[in-house]
Amino acid sequence: MRCRSVLCILCFVFVEIYGSVKPNENDFPATFKFGVSTAAFQIEGGWNEDGRGPSIWDIGTATHPEIIADGTNGNIAADSYHHVDRDIEMLRELGVNFYRFSISWTRILPNGDLSSMNRLGIQYYNGLIDKLVANSIEPMVTMYHFDLPYEIQKIGGLTNPLFPQYFESYANVLYSYFGDRVKWWMTFNEPSKHCISAYGIGEEPPFVNATGIGEYLCVDNIIKAHARAYHRYKKDFFKQQGGKIGISANSRFFFSRTKDRNMTDRGLQYCLGWIMHPIYSKSGGYPGVMIRDIASNSQMEGREWSRLPNLDVSTKAYIKGTADFFGLNYYTSRYVELGAYAGTENPSWENDARLNCSVDPSWKKGKSSWSYSVPEGLGGLLRWIKEEYDNVEVIVTENGWPDDGRLNDDGRIESLTEHLRQVSKAIKEHGCNVVGYSHWSLMDNFEWLAGYSERFGLYYVNMSSPERTRIPKKSLGVYKKIIESKKLAEKLLTF
Ligand SMILES: *[C@@H]1O[C@H](CO)[C@@H](O)[C@H](O)[C@H]1NC(C)=O
Ligand SMILES: *[C@@H]1O[C@H](CO)[C@@H](O)[C@H](O)[C@H]1NC(C)=O
Ligand SMILES: *[C@@H]1O[C@H](CO)[C@@H](O)[C@H](O)[C@H]1NC(C)=O
Ligand SMILES: *[C@@H]1O[C@H](CO)[C@@H](O)[C@H](O)[C@H]1NC(C)=O
Repeated sequence: MRCRSVLCILCFVFVEIYGSVKPNENDFPATFKFGVSTAAFQIEGGWNEDGRGPSIWDIGTATHPEIIADGTNGNIAADSYHHVDRDIEMLRELGVNFYRFSISWTRILPNGDLSSMNRLGIQYYNGLIDKLVANSIEPMVTMYHFDLPYEIQKIGGLTNPLFPQYFESYANVLYSYFGDRVKWWMTFNEPSKHCISAYGIGEEPPFVNATGIGEYLCVDNIIKAHARAYHRYKKDFFKQQGGKIGISANSRFFFSRTKDRNMTDRGLQYCLGWIMHPIYSKSGGYPGVMIRDIASNSQMEGREWSRLPNLDVSTKAYIKGTADFFGLNYYTSRYVELGAYAGTENPSWENDARLNCSVDPSWKKGKSSWSYSVPEGLGGLLRWIKEEYDNVEVIVTENGWPDDGRLNDDGRIESLTEHLRQVSKAIKEHGCNVVGYSHWSLMDNFEWLAGYSERFGLYYVNMSSPERTRIPKKSLGVYKKIIESKKLAEKLLTF
């Protein structure tokens, strides 16, 4: 007996040691969730059908077709409004655990508020959600993905101080109609990108060119709107529905050639902390570096107050802690050094941030001008988030690779595999609390200012066929296999 138990212990020790280095061990925990992402305006089409109201992107592309690289718009897009069954079939083929899609605010509330409830819009999403649930695919819903109701833009849009109230009211409708089946909610997608493009530089709808002021007001309203939607859920819905609320922010990772961690931190605070520090940090409020810089720059410009809005003590407390998980969208990284101060003439987020960015010649270049493949940047970000926000639960809500739509998409396969390897390492070697990964995107779609000229899909969509035929790309089979096995191919593919 004694001998046996010693043997058992030895055996146990052996299994323990051997187990941790076993080459065919899974790369992801059994509970890890894999998904794919889309957004309403980019795939749905059906822009004026069944009572849908116009969004800023409908009006923007109609009045300024010249801003879109190929002169296209989202009127039909991938026509998912009419192809829900095909989309479900694709999700089943891929074998995803969840589907992250967004709801078109103006399909539900054509005027943006409760004066215009549209039953047919609710019916459309009920149909989609029911089919997902019937196929054991968890719905993960983004409430706002850039498509603001045009009626709200008429009164100042995201810079109107009433915006948070409008948003809470919309969120309340979503919880009421869909919350029995939807357990994962993201209030907003990429607030910093949206606010800089739409209300700062003004290069995207609604084309408000108010750099240095507009982008900060926009983000300020978004985090307040997010907090209102969160508190409303906790007060009126959580007990019955038991879901989770988060927000998805985008960021690059910043490497420093001189290993100056302060520059890495500066870049991340200006990109990610701007949105997430008020919600996820222990202290709440905007990052200290932004408060100090922007107050000082504003003073030099002769202003009486800072261009970065002040969050008072009670507002800070109201916003702090209003999230159950952290959504991260990651595409690329940069090297960074401190940029020169640009003077008082043209204030902007960019000139406040002073991030002098460059790329490494070894980074592979994708189809989009900004796209360089830097998988290690995702690992860097996940580790930074772990330290900065007390190992919060993270879902990588977007990550993807742009090309010309080719079916033999080896670039996407390598990008997907190597980014997932970084996620696996972050979990296994660094203890990062990452619970899910969602690839952008299920299918080719309307890529905003790039139109259909840059493709991110696992499915090719033929934009000139009336049926918007979907054809699986090579990457689809690779992702399917990863999801099935929770393992990554050892061998690096090259492209
Ligand atoms: C925004 O305004 C600035 C200053 O007037 C101008 O230089 C810039 O070209 C404008 N940008 C756009 C996108 O209109
Ligand atoms: C980083 O910031 C800290 C605190 O502000 C400062 O003491 C330190 O010198 C900085 N390090 C570098 C490399 O700039
Ligand atoms: C950015 O860095 C490059 C290379 O060090 C330098 O030549 C350039 O002047 C810098 N630009 C700014 C705005 O600081
Ligand atoms: C796309 O559809 C058009 C029209 O139906 C067809 O002529 C063309 O061959 C299709 N292209 C591809 C790549 O399938």
